[in-house]
Amino acid sequence: MNVSRVPRSKSAARDSYDRMSKWYDLFASPFEKKFINTGLQKLQASPGDIILEIGFGTGQGILELARSVGDSGRVYGIDISEKMCAITRAKVEKAGFSGSVGLVCGDAARLPFHSESFNAIFMSFTLELFDTPEIPIVLQECRRVLQKGGRLCVVAMKQKPDPTAMMKLYEWAHEKFPEYIDCRPIFVKEMLEKSGFCILDAAENSSWRLPIEVVVSGKV
Ligand SMILES: C[S@@+](CC[C@H](N)C(=O)[O-])C[C@H]1O[C@@H](n2cnc3c(N)ncnc32)[C@H](O)[C@@H]1O
Repeated sequence: MNVSRVPRSKSAARDSYDRMSKWYDLFASPFEKKFINTGLQKLQASPGDIILEIGFGTGQGILELARSVGDSGRVYGIDISEKMCAITRAKVEKAGFSGSVGLVCGDAARLPFHSESFNAIFMSFTLELFDTPEIPIVLQECRRVLQKGGRLCVVAMKQKPDPTAMMKLYEWAHEKFPEYIDCRPIFVKEMLEKSGFCILDAAENSSWRLPIEVVVSGKV
C-alpha cells in the first residue's frame, strides 16, 4: 500500500492554512461541500450527541453538527490554524451556537480531550494531510477519545492499488508543489481497519475524476 509522504512541518501546515483561510470559502469549500454533506448525513448526529470535528477549517461541518445535536448536545472542534479558528468562531457566534460549540486551536495528533468523551468524530479532507507514519497516531487518538460504540466518519481522497492516469498526475503535482496541493490520496478503509475500527459504511464519489471516499467506522 504505497502512500506518498508529506514532508512538511506542523508550523508550515499552520502557516499555509492561516494564509488560505481568507479565500477558503471562495475556492475550496464549494468543491468539498457535497462530500462534507454526504459524510454528515452518514454520521447521523442526533440531538444530545457530543461530537468532535478534527480540522474544521471555515466551519461548514461545525455549524451543521451544532444544528443536529441541538441545545442538549455539544460540538467540539480542533484545528491547527489560528485564522481558521477565528473565522469559525465568528460564524458560530453569529449563528447563536456559542453555548453549545467549543473550539480549540491545536494539533490533532495530541487531542486535548479526556478518553471516551465523544459519541462521534467527523473529519473531512484532513486525515490525508498528516504524514504517513502519523496517520495511525491520529486514529489512535480518535479511538481513545471515542466512547465504546462511537462512530468516526472520514471524508478523504482515496488511493487505489491501480491508480488512474489522473490520480498519478495529481500525485506528481502533490510531490512537486506540496505547499499548494497538500492533500494526497490515502487508503482510508484499510488504515481505519488497521487502527482497530470496524467499517460500518463506505461510499465512493469523485471530484475532477479523483476518487473521494466517505467512510463511517465504529469503535468496537
Ligand atoms: C483541507 S482543510 C479541510 C477543512 C474542512 N474540514 C473542510 O472539509 O472544508 C484541512 C484543515 O485541517 C487543519 N489541519 C491541518 N493540520 C492539522 C493538525 N495537525 N491538527 C489539526 N488540524 C489540522 C487545517 O488548518 C485546515 O483547516
